[in-house]
Amino acid sequence: MEYIHKYISKISVNNLNNKIIIKGWIKSKRDTKKIIFLVIRDGTDICQCFIHKNNASEILLNKIKKLTLESSVYIEGVVISNINQSKKYEIQIHELYPYQLCNNFPIGKKNHSINFLIQKRHLWLRSQKQWAIMKIRSNVLHGLHTFFNDREFIYINTPILTSNFVENTTTLFKTNFYNSDAYLSQSGQLYGEAAAMSMNKIYTLGPTFRAEKSKTRRHLSEFWMLEPEIAFYDLNMIMNLMEELIIFIIQYIINNNDNELKILNRDINQLKMFCNPFKRITYEEIILILNGKKNVNNINLIDYLQNDFQRKKVDIENIKLEILELQKILQNKTIKKKEYNIIINKIDILQNKSKEILENINNIPLWINSAKKFQYGNDLGGSDETALMKIFNTPVMIYNWPYKIKPFYMKKNADNNDLVNNVDLLAPEGYGEIAGGSEREDDLNILISNIKSNNININDFQWYIDLRKYGSIPHSGFGLGIERLISWICKTNHVRETMAFPRMYGNISP
Ligand code: 4AD
Ligand code: MG
Repeated sequence: MEYIHKYISKISVNNLNNKIIIKGWIKSKRDTKKIIFLVIRDGTDICQCFIHKNNASEILLNKIKKLTLESSVYIEGVVISNINQSKKYEIQIHELYPYQLCNNFPIGKKNHSINFLIQKRHLWLRSQKQWAIMKIRSNVLHGLHTFFNDREFIYINTPILTSNFVENTTTLFKTNFYNSDAYLSQSGQLYGEAAAMSMNKIYTLGPTFRAEKSKTRRHLSEFWMLEPEIAFYDLNMIMNLMEELIIFIIQYIINNNDNELKILNRDINQLKMFCNPFKRITYEEIILILNGKKNVNNINLIDYLQNDFQRKKVDIENIKLEILELQKILQNKTIKKKEYNIIINKIDILQNKSKEILENINNIPLWINSAKKFQYGNDLGGSDETALMKIFNTPVMIYNWPYKIKPFYMKKNADNNDLVNNVDLLAPEGYGEIAGGSEREDDLNILISNIKSNNININDFQWYIDLRKYGSIPHSGFGLGIERLISWICKTNHVRETMAFPRMYGNISP
């Protein structure tokens, strides 16, 4: 029988004794007395290959001995059963040809700083965690298309080069369009509204740009946004759609990316909990909750934060003691190398944990202070969002915000003209706002007056105003930040890890 090329993800116990070819890179190598083990990754998955030294040719053994981390290889072998392996099979090597021997791959097992890894993003992408995040990202986008396609939405692509702002004038990337000013799109929404007047239910999905000089873990300069826009929808319908969509995507990822979630240590039961009905709370109630004047499920936010502060102080003392104990064991001269490494690893994990807790200890008093002082008319800052979400274990939809802190296109509330019919969706676990949407002002005169009172050049918006002249209707939509959603699902520390090549303040290469 001939050797046949197989992608690693397609190999199973059904292929036992089959002669196969795999093409990939060396993820790790272990040279023992009798056997050499290679872990190979080919982009679809990883698998263990091995060769017995006593029945391999000298030439083949020499080739294998020279292999280094990330060397690229072609392997012929046979699939062997191994019940001890998680995959229940491994590959016995018959022949191997290197495509190239890799010279000193810069990313090793040691803990690299995040700045180093970002500079080496083109190589960092090969690491298993980054690979897992990219696979989840791809499926999140597939899931979004599936969701909207199933509901007969039309997929629209809106321009990146635009002549006007959408959200604000302060975060525009200016560029030059045949000698006149142009801007990279902040949002496809206004074009989405025009398209909804033609196709009723539409969505856009593409890159958007914000010149935000903020180095938070939630901000990118270039990010992808999903924006549905629907004719005859009101705020309630938008909130229902948002909730249905997020739950669909989480379930889609649980169903399709079990392996990747495991690699990321993402607890699936935790994700399942986020599929319960979301909380819907008005902006005005949120002020009371932040001020500690209203409880959520009998929990008072300020009390909770204060107790959390005390708990964390105890935690950090306990971790310190634990580290001391472990360090004592290390001093024992009879300790075996394997055990020594396990303890070093444990200490490393504890030290990282304590760093994280210390950050919290420093932040909590600031959060408490900011929450207590929060008043009507304030916008929720990143840390207000984080603090608030400590007492929720589902996403929260905050609706009816003051008009004066929201964009000109939002429709005013009929009962209270200070408020708009809008919603921001906050994710739990400190991920903050992941989506925002609203009813759109559909009255020609009110829209014009909003534009004028915001000092916006009305000429730039004539085409948008036309939509209110020719068969204006109530309509609504929202924007979902793709990277923030993925960052939350994958539980990454920063949104930058959810993009293959992130663009953010201070980073445009690679
Ligand atoms: O809240 P935003 O600014 O809303 C809009 O742009 C509306 N025009 C959307 C609409 O109604 N069609 O942005 C929407 C979402 C945010 O909730 C957030 O998830 C994400 O986009 N986002 C960012 N993500 C990463 N980096 C940034 N700098 C982001 N700014 C917004
Ligand atoms: Mg917003």
